[in-house]
Amino acid sequence: MRYLGGVRTREQSAEALRKLLANTAPGIGCWAGFVEAGFAGYWALRPGDAPGEAELGYRLLRRYWRKGLAKEGSLELLRHGFREVGLDRIFAGTVAGNKASQATMASIGLRHIRDFIADDNPDYFAPGDDRHAVEYAVGREEWLARN
Ligand SMILES: CC(C)(COP(=O)(O)OP(=O)(O)OC[C@H]1O[C@@H](n2cnc3c(N)ncnc32)[C@H](O)[C@@H]1OP(=O)(O)O)[C@@H](O)C(=O)NCCC(=O)NCCS
Repeated sequence: MRYLGGVRTREQSAEALRKLLANTAPGIGCWAGFVEAGFAGYWALRPGDAPGEAELGYRLLRRYWRKGLAKEGSLELLRHGFREVGLDRIFAGTVAGNKASQATMASIGLRHIRDFIADDNPDYFAPGDDRHAVEYAVGREEWLARN
């Protein structure tokens, strides 16, 4: 939770997950991932501000880190988003310090688009957190040409 607003209470986590699960559009939403019977984490495509855009996100339980799972799930969501849903652009954002998330974005073929200062959203930042952030993205034509 270091780059995700810090540790939360169970009630705060439940509220954040309710918001995430309510934030859907046709064909996109949130997917849970399992390793055998064990919940490993979730991957999400959330509606972006512009039509045809979606924001990719992922969070895994720590014991499943560095096994290729974030990449595997994210590649599947890119395929789903572009081929099944017909999205035009998929982007992802994270804070500048979150190198694991940026490495995941780069490894699935998203390109660095911009550095920016993120809004002071309490879902993502505790008071005093560094809000320097980055955006990565890939467009439909570019993704189709490579896949
Ligand atoms: C970010 C996160 C989802 C990455 O999950 P993961 O399953 O460990 O990532 P993968 O094993 O699929 O690795 C994907 C790529 O990132 C690289 N990577 C992963 N963690 C890294 C790290 N800490 N430092 C450098 N590179 C890293 C991998 O080497 C791989 O690159 P490659 O394909 O070129 O070899 C995981 O660390 C996590 O859940 N963090 C906490 C929640 C979070 O920060 N979510 C993102 C919010 S924006």
